[in-house]
Amino acid sequence: MHYVSLENARLHLYFLEYTCALKFSLQVYSKMISKCFNKMSQWFFHHHSFASYLEPVVQYWLPAWRSDSYRGKVIDVEHSDSNYSLVTLKLQRGWPVHTAGQHIQLTIEHNGRLLTRTFTVASSPDLYKQDQKITLLIKRQKQGQFTGQLAEIIKIDQWLNISKAQGDFVLEKSELPITMIAAGSGVTPIISMLSQHLSTIKQSVYLRYIASHNQHYFVDLLSQLRAQFSHFEFDLVDREQHKNMLLFTNEQLRDVYCCGPASLMNGIKLKAQALGFNYFQEQFSFTPMVNLQQQEFKVSLGTNELTITNQRTLLEELEHQQQPVIRGCGIGVCHQCQCVKKRGIVKDIRTGDLSGAGEQLIQLCVSQPISDLELSI
Ligand code: FES
Repeated sequence: MHYVSLENARLHLYFLEYTCALKFSLQVYSKMISKCFNKMSQWFFHHHSFASYLEPVVQYWLPAWRSDSYRGKVIDVEHSDSNYSLVTLKLQRGWPVHTAGQHIQLTIEHNGRLLTRTFTVASSPDLYKQDQKITLLIKRQKQGQFTGQLAEIIKIDQWLNISKAQGDFVLEKSELPITMIAAGSGVTPIISMLSQHLSTIKQSVYLRYIASHNQHYFVDLLSQLRAQFSHFEFDLVDREQHKNMLLFTNEQLRDVYCCGPASLMNGIKLKAQALGFNYFQEQFSFTPMVNLQQQEFKVSLGTNELTITNQRTLLEELEHQQQPVIRGCGIGVCHQCQCVKKRGIVKDIRTGDLSGAGEQLIQLCVSQPISDLELSI
């Protein structure tokens, strides 16, 4: 038998204590140092962090590197005859794998401008774990600044950025039958959920997929899943058919998942809740807290003075008045609309928090004017 002497045990303990204390102090010091650098960057360089100030230098070696997001490379783009494109990305190691149903912000540089949009991941988390790839289904909108020119904007081998995945439209743990309703590109989170979970859940799953004639996507994949899993069934319908078909054929308690235009989701929500069903829907954006009482304020922008109302965000107001502002994600994530507020008070519409009255960095897309303002864009 091997005995450890008392002296040795003490030494081990000392060593352990010492390394723990060292690790803790290093973490505290590095946090303090990075806080100091970030504060200085905000004061002197008008960047929200020191790392973001260094971005152009790092990008010399790592294209599209950004301090607050992950890198990905476009490895496949498939433009279908319908209005959809399927984009496959290979992501850098370390991207925190998504949960089926979640969305990401994708940022891409085009003509010297950063464009950011939100898309749901169509592929399953298991697929990402195998080969670090994800796919996005993108609807090409003719008028869209980003999706309207997708073929020119997204190219094979191009580097871009994605955020970590967000969103709570994910499959809940439950044994109740599931009814899913998807319209248009709203099928994307549903496809990810079905691919990931059908093999492990036992209850029946029914999908009604609404799209215009010949605009249904993933039809082969859905047929494969139906052939593979007897508890899964789906219907491809158009809007008219959907209106004329009964959705809930019996009143057995169930979980209902819905993703599509707000008008569709609101109608399904009312029906599902009236029957006492559990209802879940995709929420891409936040609900802004705007003041109900309309007011007008003056905004000084260099030598210009504008009159704006408090009924829209500063970004919307300045765009409306054709000022040279930059729009990225529009939901307070990408920081592209960031500018310096020299004086005046704004409200963050996500949280309702008020800014100070003095100089401060603000994001125009989530700021509502509360007083007269002076901005430097
Ligand atoms: S546009 Fe992305 S944070 Fe404002």
